Amino acid sequence: MGNTILVGAQWGDEGKGKIIDVLTEQADVVVRYAGGNNAGHTVWVGRQKYVLHLIPSGILRRGKLCVIGNGVVIDPLSLVAEIQGLQNIGVKVGRNLVISETAHVVFPYHRELDARRELLHGKNKIGTTKRGIGPAYGDKVARTGLRMGDLVDLDRLAEKVSARVRENNRLLKALGAKPVVLKRVLAEYLQAGRFLKPFVTNTVPFLHGVMKRGARLLFEGAQGTFLDLDHGTYPYVTSSNTTAGGACTGSGVPPHRMDRVVGVMKAYTTRVGEGPLPTENKEISSLLHGMGREFGATTGRARRCGWFDAVATREAAMVNGIDDLAITNLDGLDTVASIKVCIGYRHGKKRFQYLPSDIRTLSACAPIYTEFAGWQTPTERCKSWRELPANARAYLKAISELTGAKLCIVSVGPGREQTIFV
Ligand code: IMP
Ligand code: MG
Repeated sequence: MGNTILVGAQWGDEGKGKIIDVLTEQADVVVRYAGGNNAGHTVWVGRQKYVLHLIPSGILRRGKLCVIGNGVVIDPLSLVAEIQGLQNIGVKVGRNLVISETAHVVFPYHRELDARRELLHGKNKIGTTKRGIGPAYGDKVARTGLRMGDLVDLDRLAEKVSARVRENNRLLKALGAKPVVLKRVLAEYLQAGRFLKPFVTNTVPFLHGVMKRGARLLFEGAQGTFLDLDHGTYPYVTSSNTTAGGACTGSGVPPHRMDRVVGVMKAYTTRVGEGPLPTENKEISSLLHGMGREFGATTGRARRCGWFDAVATREAAMVNGIDDLAITNLDGLDTVASIKVCIGYRHGKKRFQYLPSDIRTLSACAPIYTEFAGWQTPTERCKSWRELPANARAYLKAISELTGAKLCIVSVGPGREQTIFV
């Protein structure tokens, strides 16, 4: 399969965790390249549910190497808890996990700043996961951040952390928030540094070394195209490059070594947090929530739901260079009689075939819909393309054609076996 980048083609939560898990079978190394523990990837193995936040889902397969690349921001306390949680249920985490020494570290003051800014934004809040992701990337860009290499430099950690805590506490106080307690931060981060030290290395020569030996790499995207800092619905975005280009900068593997981009999208649309969602629809939201679906893996928040938005997915195909599509959650539409698909936006007299960059224009856009007849049959037991109802096949073909990429996987449920290769 060569080196594959897997990205979300919508607003995150497209079901990437499951598709990555399925594709991992054909990969040797799985690499996370952006985001932090704001992500939540749900994977089911038999009856066991795993929610992963920072560790690539490849960890659940024997013999696969997992890399947390330089583009990721790491909350070390959360990472330690995730490693121990996996170990406690019998998943091996040892030399199969490698962490970049240049990945930036998330500190408690980042979380406090994240929460405080959200509060101060009032009704204009972004709806972040409050994991400190934005402020941590902010420090990276401002060149004041600490990196994993600093965290595991145990002799000098206290000095570095003290300076950062002093500055950030001044900021927190100025914003009316509670300062963090230096002694506690030091104790916790020293302990985490000691625990994580064996995992931390320079992942760039590491990745080039395994590639030289013929390893196939799978780049695991987090969040989705429209949460990308540059290409998303700014400012209602996350603070990293979630799109395919991020896989290069976030890992040190150059563009010409990438062979294929797989885009994952739901058969409908969802979003958590604030910001425009042109096809948002109450009926489909309550239908899906009523089925117990579409609650966030990280924060438990109910996701906002809407019809499939082909304007958005076509733009995602363009920005990411999507070759193949994986369409998930088809079974979510099993009971719908008539299914809408957005094929354009209307704004006054103007029509858009792409997402307007101006957030106010986008928020005021009305979707132009076309309709498809539903199949009104359960699909969760379908094992092949031919077993799918004819209307479901027609719908899948239409949305992949509208998106402009080849359909390669259809998912009809959370299980590994509920995966159809087209
Ligand atoms: P942050 O990444 O916590 O700063 O949140 C910024 C925006 O991205 C908010 O709208 C979040 O709900 C959204 N977001 C962050 N991570 C995820 C994810 O893994 N899935 C879906 N939405 C996410
Ligand atoms: Mg998620």
